[in-house]
Amino acid sequence: MKPPKKHHDPSIVVVGKVADSMLDVNRITVDGGFLIWERRDDKTVEIRDIHVDSEFRRRGLGRKMLELLFRQLDGATRVWAITRAENLVAQQFYEKCQFRDVSILRRFYNDKTLDAIMFVRCAGGPV
Ligand SMILES: CC(C)(COP(=O)(O)OP(=O)(O)OC[C@H]1O[C@@H](n2cnc3c(N)ncnc32)[C@H](O)[C@@H]1OP(=O)(O)O)[C@@H](O)C(=O)NCCC(=O)NCCS
Repeated sequence: MKPPKKHHDPSIVVVGKVADSMLDVNRITVDGGFLIWERRDDKTVEIRDIHVDSEFRRRGLGRKMLELLFRQLDGATRVWAITRAENLVAQQFYEKCQFRDVSILRRFYNDKTLDAIMFVRCAGGPV
């Protein structure tokens, strides 16, 4: 599969898709954490949120929830995750878990001041 082109020029199409209404939202729960994901289309799943309680962090729970997600993609070939540009822990986490940063989404949030980073991982491995 041809990897998506790495760029830092946010696409309005991408932002529009992310802003779509929430449909088909799913939750993975483990003791100490949860992951919420949504199917965007036949090929794409988006992680809406991932959280591990502070006392359980750095024990592999976040990675485990990603593995559980990748086992239930049901035909999807890529997983998106969007995180605040200032959230360096989340970025290190996604990078360590084989995601690649593909876009900076400028002034992405409602207050129109904060940027976001979009990460993607293909089902077969890194982008
Ligand atoms: C991001 C988060 C889900 C990671 O969960 P976690 O269970 O601690 O992550 P894991 O233990 O599975 O970590 C996997 C790898 O990610 C990286 N990583 C995780 N936390 C890190 C940190 N604080 N600093 C640097 N690297 C980190 C490490 O490489 C780690 O592997 P290692 O421990 O073998 O070095 C957790 O920190 C969290 O809930 N943060 C607050 C919520 C949040 O920011 N969510 C993301 C929103 S998009």
